[in-house]
Amino acid sequence: MLKIVSTTPYTDQKMGTAGLRRKSKVVVQPNYVENFLQSIFNTIGNVKGQTYIVGGDGRFYNDVAIQKLIKMAAANGIGKLIIGQNGFLSTPASSNLILKNKTDGGFVLSASHNPGGPNGDFGIKYATASGGQAPSSVSDAIYKNTLSIKEYKIMDVPDIDLSKLGTQKLGDMTIEIIDPVKDYVEMMEGIFDFAAIKKLFESGFTMRYDAMNAVTGPYAIRIFEEILGAKKGSVVNFRPLPDFGGLHPDPNLVYAKDLVATMYADNAPDFGAANDGDGDRNMILGKKFFVTPSDSLAVLTDNYQLIPAYKNGIYGVAKSAATSTAVCRVAEAHNLPFYSVPTGWKYFVNLMDSKRITFCGEESFGTGSSHIREKDGIWAVLFWLNIIAATGKSVEEITMEHWKKYGRSYYMRFDFEGISTEVADKLMADLEQKLPSLAGKTYGAHTVKVAAPFVYNDPVDGSSTKNGLVIDFTQGEKITFRLSGTGSSGATLRVYIERLENHKFKEDPKQMLAGLFDAAMEIAEIENRTGKHQADVNT
Ligand code: G1P
Ligand code: ZN
Repeated sequence: MLKIVSTTPYTDQKMGTAGLRRKSKVVVQPNYVENFLQSIFNTIGNVKGQTYIVGGDGRFYNDVAIQKLIKMAAANGIGKLIIGQNGFLSTPASSNLILKNKTDGGFVLSASHNPGGPNGDFGIKYATASGGQAPSSVSDAIYKNTLSIKEYKIMDVPDIDLSKLGTQKLGDMTIEIIDPVKDYVEMMEGIFDFAAIKKLFESGFTMRYDAMNAVTGPYAIRIFEEILGAKKGSVVNFRPLPDFGGLHPDPNLVYAKDLVATMYADNAPDFGAANDGDGDRNMILGKKFFVTPSDSLAVLTDNYQLIPAYKNGIYGVAKSAATSTAVCRVAEAHNLPFYSVPTGWKYFVNLMDSKRITFCGEESFGTGSSHIREKDGIWAVLFWLNIIAATGKSVEEITMEHWKKYGRSYYMRFDFEGISTEVADKLMADLEQKLPSLAGKTYGAHTVKVAAPFVYNDPVDGSSTKNGLVIDFTQGEKITFRLSGTGSSGATLRVYIERLENHKFKEDPKQMLAGLFDAAMEIAEIENRTGKHQADVNT
């Protein structure tokens, strides 16, 4: 039954910010998935008898790739796979299962928030025993292996039935099919005050949760409607579909537009939230009110004492460098250790493992804590519900009070998409050259204090990572430039802009940041080089 298949390498299997992510059309090529998986097994080395968690977000090709993975795992001598029923697992649920079962790692078949379907994207995230995605040292070694791969091992057997819970065998390997939701729910019940949130819903509190036709639907129905008692129908788009029903499952103001319309209507529910394709991102809304992810991290951190699992104290907090400085002021006020890291969740993992931080977050709608080693969309939603239940205040009241106490960091991210890689690389290289000369220069009302690349020295493993170029201005304003590491083709330039305001809290962020946006365009010569005079996506 064991088959050894000869193959030739693909040269594009380097993992980015979050695993391997490519156009579905690329991934369906003969041996593409097989080459990549075999390179992982080769890099791990002795996989004999090891155990892995396996699941995915249900997108197009999930069902095909998971069968290849199962058959290759058995052929490579892996001892056991724990698989979510029908091949479903959210990224946070998978991280929890890795830690809870002390497995050697796990695989989530997902391109996260990127659209799915034959014309969309597919992806493979590989996590180690830490519960988090493989660190760069490991992903680099895997990439090296993909460049010289000559053969892979696979069992020549019919497809495995993933619909029935329980245990079965494939050769010497054990396959356990589990309920993808159960362990995750238990973990959430151990963190938050479910009784208080239940009371909140009993009192008539209303919510809309948009699962965006992706993997969190079954989790959200179970938790919000069945356990916490949110009105039936509160969770919408709850059936995971292979193409996400045509939605772009990225919870932000642009792509979650139905939810945004509902929350800005006159009869809006009290609370609105959405998660992304694989359930690790979150968006939080109140009645006619949007909370930026940067502010969300700051508000959650400021209120940690309201949550049963955190009330006795937290270690510290971290953000990605591109995230606004809102949480820095909270960390200072609470005297908490604080870290700023490159973009990508893997940088938080060392800080969590070494008990330096408990909470962390990114501007890209990712928030989480050390309960697992990935960001966690439903965790963030429950955290907000718990704060609302404990304080009796609305999302807007909570956030406004926060700004009055700490000031408001007006913040936006501008994405310039579909640039050629060459143009983008040259733009960044030239800008980096130019940084030292910017100090003291004035752009409208803003004067540059210092400009330099962001360099992170990991306090745990000693590695050093450069990620993005940062311009700091004299009044605390900040512009960060970096290239996306998750695109499936071409390059995306991200420009992150923030500005602190201590008195005016109800202004339009775009207006407040207009001067800095113009400065960014000028400094990086964006229009000249890309032909774009505005960003493609503003969030
Ligand atoms: C994007 C986000 C980043 C996040 C990653 C995976 O990466 O910006 O914060 O960790 O997706 O969800 P980027 O495309 O910017 O490299
Ligand atoms: Zn995701």
